Amino acid sequence: MDIKENISLQSFNTFGINVNAKEFASIESLKDLTDVLNTNPSHLFILGGGSNMLLTKDIDALVLHINLKGISVISTSKKNVKVQVSAGENWHEFVNWCLNKNYGGLENLSLIPGNVGTAPIQNIGAYGVELKDTFVSCEALNTQTKQLKTFTKEECDFGYRNSIFKQEIKGEYIITSVVFELSTENHSIKTNYGAIESELKRTGIKNPTIQEVSKAVISIRNSKLPDPKILGNSGSFFKNPVVSYSKFEILQVQFPLIPHYKVSEQNVKIPAGWLIETAGYKGKTFDNYGVHNKQALVLVNYGGATGENILNLSIQIQKAVRLIFDIDLESEVNIL
Ligand code: EPU
Repeated sequence: MDIKENISLQSFNTFGINVNAKEFASIESLKDLTDVLNTNPSHLFILGGGSNMLLTKDIDALVLHINLKGISVISTSKKNVKVQVSAGENWHEFVNWCLNKNYGGLENLSLIPGNVGTAPIQNIGAYGVELKDTFVSCEALNTQTKQLKTFTKEECDFGYRNSIFKQEIKGEYIITSVVFELSTENHSIKTNYGAIESELKRTGIKNPTIQEVSKAVISIRNSKLPDPKILGNSGSFFKNPVVSYSKFEILQVQFPLIPHYKVSEQNVKIPAGWLIETAGYKGKTFDNYGVHNKQALVLVNYGGATGENILNLSIQIQKAVRLIFDIDLESEVNIL
């Protein structure tokens, strides 16, 4: 394993932002990882699929690109299978691997950009399913002690786009592999997220297989989310905010059509995409960056935008939403 100097990260982040890493190493094995940590680098930066970050400046650190590969079945029971996946596997390719074997549980999470090892950090979710629903455990290396530790689901403390890896132990561990428990028969088909049902209806499917659910999800995603290979973006830029019912009722007087989802007796979630669209930002373009015209929650780089450009746009959107709705939008992507 060699350590390269002054490497452009443009092809390593889905926003396609061109910043440089002071040093860069591709990690292909656990030995690579411990070897590099034994050189005691002063600053480390862990890079997976680069699909949930906005790079606003050069990275003055040793960037470790996690390329650990491998998928293996570690146990089988009558109706389930446990699969261990190395952190550097591409998420969607892993979902397809499962679908080819007829392993159920991840079909609603089809086409999410990024790698398996970074998926637990923000507990990726889409169309009524979150990673935590099939997650069993993950292995992670402590960057100080260089020891591997297994984190159970409870220890990960998953929440909405959140986990312990984003909170208490942020930056302390490098996830090396993840174990999922998937169904091998009698799959639990989750189509209650509105868009899936209407897509299945449109295509005339009544009792969908997991492969058909995946196809429906891919079709919905392709219709509103830009492909990062074609148009730089990082998926949802903001989280959907949670507000109290009392605040929601006040907003509902002024905006009777405000969409919302109950999260508890006290709180509702409001789609940030709706807030941004209502604030007039959907499809807005500034030189070479802007807000996607089919999903206002996605900020896009049309080519050559800087991280600063996109960060400033996100701040402008936050201000507009605060002014109109008195709601603070929290970014979902990591800003660096
Ligand atoms: N909406 C608008 N205008 C828009 C976008 C959305 O009015 O421009 C409203 C519509 O009322 C729509 C509602 O928002 O019915 C929900 O929209 P959508 O189903 O597209 O979902 P979302 O809440 O905008 C979340 C996730 C996505 C995930 C989808 C589907 C977050 C921050 N985002 O988006 O995740 O794919 O649900 O489950 O929770 C990601 O994290 O990168 C991501 C794309």
